[in-house]
Amino acid sequence: MRNENRRIDPALHTNYIARHDGVTMAIREILKLPDKRLRLLSEPVKAIDAGIRKLVDDMFETMYKAPGIGLAAIQVGVAKRVITMDLSKKEDDHEPQVFINPEILWQSQERAKFEEGCLSIPDYYEEVERPCEVKVKYLDLAGKKREIDAKGLSATCLQHEIDHINGVLFIDHLSKLKRDRVIKKFTKAAKSATTSSATKNVEA
Ligand code: NI
Repeated sequence: MRNENRRIDPALHTNYIARHDGVTMAIREILKLPDKRLRLLSEPVKAIDAGIRKLVDDMFETMYKAPGIGLAAIQVGVAKRVITMDLSKKEDDHEPQVFINPEILWQSQERAKFEEGCLSIPDYYEEVERPCEVKVKYLDLAGKKREIDAKGLSATCLQHEIDHINGVLFIDHLSKLKRDRVIKKFTKAAKSATTSSATKNVEA
């Protein structure tokens, strides 16, 4: 998820990102609409091994660089139920959160509207109405079972990211007219990008 009001300067994240155990982190490519992989149902994580830890590290680096406040593994092409989030307001006070195999246990009847955006649908924002409170169970990076009662931005962001691991995008919560319009726009942009790179190949 992206939030224009919470833009983070990626340069300020150097200290957080730096690791001292020789593990190199990598920024992964973020899939964009209309990439079909964004519609996959992600698989539960069976074991939190070195591969998952590396995925989480890379997701944080990718998310901070974008910059965004939430990212689901499928957005970097990995169909596993892993989410990273950081809703901290200050650049120097990070609150990195990892949710593995998250499940919504309860959601409030009361709903709230937030203007949402998505790193997979760049520069497009629309108001989405969702339950304003959710209770979510998940595993942390150590494999410990946890529960969170999320409200406000945290609740919206969690629901947005859990949608991702179920192959759902925030535009699915909009009217068909709006959704069709944005899909058409991104499909057209993707096609013209392919055409122009094909042209370059011919020229070369
Ligand atoms: Ni998103």
